[in-house]
Amino acid sequence: MNSNIEYCEISDIVKKIKSIDSELILIVADLNVWSEYSRALPLLNIEGKKVLFWKAPDGEKVKDFTNLASALEFFISKGIHRNAHLISIGGGATSDFAGLVASMLLRGIEWSVIPTTLLSMVDAGVGGKVAINSAHGKNLIGAFHHPSNIWICPEFLETLPAHEYLSGMGEMIKYGFLSKVISDKILAKKPLNEIIKDCVEYKKEIVSSDFKEQGLRKVLNFGHTIGHAIEKIYGLSHGVSVIWGILLVTKVFQKNKMQDHLRALSSALEITVGNSPWLNKSFLLEDVMIYIKKDKKVSSFEDIDLVLVEEIGKPIVKKFKFDELNTKLNAAADELKTISIDS
Ligand SMILES: NC(=O)c1ccc[n+]([C@@H]2O[C@H](COP(=O)([O-])OP(=O)(O)OC[C@H]3O[C@@H](n4cnc5c(N)ncnc54)[C@H](O)[C@@H]3O)[C@@H](O)[C@H]2O)c1
Repeated sequence: MNSNIEYCEISDIVKKIKSIDSELILIVADLNVWSEYSRALPLLNIEGKKVLFWKAPDGEKVKDFTNLASALEFFISKGIHRNAHLISIGGGATSDFAGLVASMLLRGIEWSVIPTTLLSMVDAGVGGKVAINSAHGKNLIGAFHHPSNIWICPEFLETLPAHEYLSGMGEMIKYGFLSKVISDKILAKKPLNEIIKDCVEYKKEIVSSDFKEQGLRKVLNFGHTIGHAIEKIYGLSHGVSVIWGILLVTKVFQKNKMQDHLRALSSALEITVGNSPWLNKSFLLEDVMIYIKKDKKVSSFEDIDLVLVEEIGKPIVKKFKFDELNTKLNAAADELKTISIDS
């Protein structure tokens, strides 16, 4: 079940694709990434391969039923077989979508990921969770389908817009709570590529011991339960919502020490998150709770698994009744009005 993970240059990608043991290559590429890199990536004519290319609407837009049907029908209409190999080129939205397409075509074909955002390099591209969104919440329709290869080229980050880079930093901050090694490296301001590799390694280890998120893998959801609600309600990017989710969960359930750690990590990574979207307004607790109840981490209609980090590198998963979470968030409502991350 383990993916082969390699770090390479963009100029190596064609060689990597040539090495795939199938003559039929299906490509799903993010529109923006393709317009930026089509010259550097001559993928339409690869010697010895037949290439079917589906250009994906950029980012999150792709993750819906219309696009899912369109990509599936496109590939089927061109004639494919079980040994076809699909390649995703883009950020986490593209790999979530492309992986789901691969899991459904002919009941599942092999696929590989070329992540092009920081977030997808350290998180979304690794681990085989693939999904589209439902009208009722993010990532509610999906599957577990491991990619065969993950080819990471940090060079792609050179064209990544600043707000997308910040979003990837959100997941890096998460790892800075889950792993002491990563925390130390971030605080010591080690080179970004080194930290990317550590995040990938950490996720890979967790996933290989709990592919279907029955236990340990849940720790990767640190900051995500409240974060996903914030993402949906306030329209912030995924990683920035995770940073707010971490701040709120540590504020409500933990000691100040953890908020100080969050601020130390974001300062070491030289990021500025800015004001919360609810600054000086009331925090939309009711909407947050409605959203949380629909979250896929909910294990029953009464309670939810929340990840807490009481000591850096030692996350735990704790069950909370919805009422208890609601009461705790409500009690902190006044403080949440002006809460900020930037020190
Ligand atoms: N499956 C998982 O385990 C997992 C984990 C975390 C997040 N996710 C999912 O990942 C998604 C977010 O992914 P993301 O943050 O990687 O962003 P994204 O895929 O939504 O892309 C964001 C934007 O960046 C552009 N872009 C991508 N790479 C670029 C590059 N190199 N240069 C210029 N522009 C580029 C895209 O066109 C898009 O406009 C969410 O849907 C989230 O649910 C999945």
